[in-house]
Amino acid sequence: MEQETQHPSPRFSPEALEKTEEIFRRYPPEHREAALMPILHLAQREFGGWLAPETIEYVAEFMNLAPIRVYEVASFYTMYNLKKVGRYHIQVCTNISCWLCDSNAIVETLKCKLGIGLGETSGDGRYTLAEVECLGACVNAPMLQINDDYFENLTPEQVVGMIDQLP
Ligand code: FES
Repeated sequence: MEQETQHPSPRFSPEALEKTEEIFRRYPPEHREAALMPILHLAQREFGGWLAPETIEYVAEFMNLAPIRVYEVASFYTMYNLKKVGRYHIQVCTNISCWLCDSNAIVETLKCKLGIGLGETSGDGRYTLAEVECLGACVNAPMLQINDDYFENLTPEQVVGMIDQLP
């Protein structure tokens, strides 16, 4: 069975530590914990694209917060991954505007093309398919996000072509 934990002892790199200082400067010193969300985002990028339990513990220690406080935030927002994700994290919006523009067809096309269901990762670790709430691009529904990039005004045919073109 694959070991889920990749970073038994996560520590921010010097470059990431510099970024944390820049993040903390955005908030009043007495509200340091307000920086938790961007710090978690940084940690996710730094430690393999997801937040392992060890990473959550580390962020809690780093910010001098109880681990449960960090977990509460990390588990609330879909932008934080609590499980390892594939090289391409494909997040399909199925909220109202996208649903009205047939996001179901996008989801079904991807399930068929990738051979995985929602919330699953392909056996080769290449793709993770997820259903998410509104990603704020309703005007160009239906849409999806692959890693950091948005793809909008989609048709099932375009989605198949996009997958075929991923390096
Ligand atoms: S409903 Fe899909 S981006 Fe808003």
